[in-house]
Amino acid sequence: MSKIWMAVGVILVGTVASANIDMKSKIAVCKGCHGQKFEKKAMGKSNVVKDMSKEAIIKALKGYKAGTYGGAMKKIMEGQMKKLSAKDIEAIVDKIKK
Ligand code: HEC
Repeated sequence: MSKIWMAVGVILVGTVASANIDMKSKIAVCKGCHGQKFEKKAMGKSNVVKDMSKEAIIKALKGYKAGTYGGAMKKIMEGQMKKLSAKDIEAIVDKIKK
């Protein structure tokens, strides 16, 4: 249960802080669920993002934004991606796969 509340907290904090934050803090939001190095299965459901190819990550993130990608918990990622532009997504993936 506590994991769920933590996730809700991350979403709320992410929403409030999203107005004018730099890339670093945008990525910090992801780490709350995906791990410091994107080494975790977010909420026990996602693939391990650091093991995905750059192309696969971009495809997934743009797909979440468009509502065309994802599994049982895709609503969570759709909410995350709505706050980001396509440019933000590419910049974030550059940081993940550097
Ligand atoms: C509140 C927790 C949470 C946050 C914050 C979050 N994610 Fe996720 N992420 C998830 C979950 C849960 C899934 C699996 C969703 C599904 O069922 O499709 C996921 C899926 C993904 C996937 C696709 C993996 C796959 O299984 O194909 C990528 C890539 C990803 N997230 C990257 C990010 C990035 C980058 C950020 C920050 C901009 C971020 N996530 C923020 C929880 C989160």
